[in-house]
Amino acid sequence: MAEMGEYKKQVDECVAWLQKKAPFPPDIVIQLGTGLGDFADSLRAEAVFPYTDLPHFPESTVSSHSGRLLFAEVNGRKAAVLQGRFHFYEGYSTREVAFPIRVLSLLGAKTLILTNAAGGLNPLYKPGSIMVFRDHLYFLGENPLRGENIDEWGPRFPDLSTPYHPGLIKLVLDSADRCKIPNVISGVYVCIPGPSLETPAETRWLRDSGADAVGMSSIPEVIVAKHAGMDVLGLSVVSNINDPDNFQPIILEDIIAAAQAAGTRLAQLLLEILPNIPS
Ligand code: HPA
Repeated sequence: MAEMGEYKKQVDECVAWLQKKAPFPPDIVIQLGTGLGDFADSLRAEAVFPYTDLPHFPESTVSSHSGRLLFAEVNGRKAAVLQGRFHFYEGYSTREVAFPIRVLSLLGAKTLILTNAAGGLNPLYKPGSIMVFRDHLYFLGENPLRGENIDEWGPRFPDLSTPYHPGLIKLVLDSADRCKIPNVISGVYVCIPGPSLETPAETRWLRDSGADAVGMSSIPEVIVAKHAGMDVLGLSVVSNINDPDNFQPIILEDIIAAAQAAGTRLAQLLLEILPNIPS
């Protein structure tokens, strides 16, 4: 892992590169997870950068995640869309996982919207439910802010008493109601390292610790976004339900198919909320 000084240099170089090449400084960052490629493909992008062109961007090793950064005006909002993310289980440090968010925060983005696919732990959830993060549990064991703090980026001990912006949570729930998009609920996301999936005993324990959905991504990005002073909204498509008393094998192809099936509702929700996000 690069030392903090080296990491900062890499971030600064990527920011400077994008300041030259990006069509506009983004207001909102949207990071798309499994199954949401169609949303990115539907955008009229003003610029598209493969991650391999971006200085010091990590390279995605997961075939179900393509790696592109798009700049597009979406429903009147200037958005940077990250299609594809990096995961701790790929071997990256959590600081590397969050590299794109650090860079885009320094380009001026004020809001981060994350989407992913997750396993449902709450017995009331169904495959295809959309869970808005109300809070999280972080079990990766490596904080992306560990090491020397860069004071110009944020405080040494960032407050996480309100990790997810209450106004944005309400906006999603109200928009779902108004547009009659079913099965949108708020809950607690737990981030585990993976890549092995959970055992029945681990599933019971995670459920008992107050988690409603489990996944292997997103929270390093949340921590860095909060450090950078951004407002954060997290959205999971519940792709499978994990019942510790009747545990079924979890199959990647099923996760991708379920996330894609719910993708249309999630895209509709995103388009609906974007104009109403405070700038
Ligand atoms: N567990 C962990 N990560 C996941 C799952 C799951 O059941 N489903 C989708 N991502």
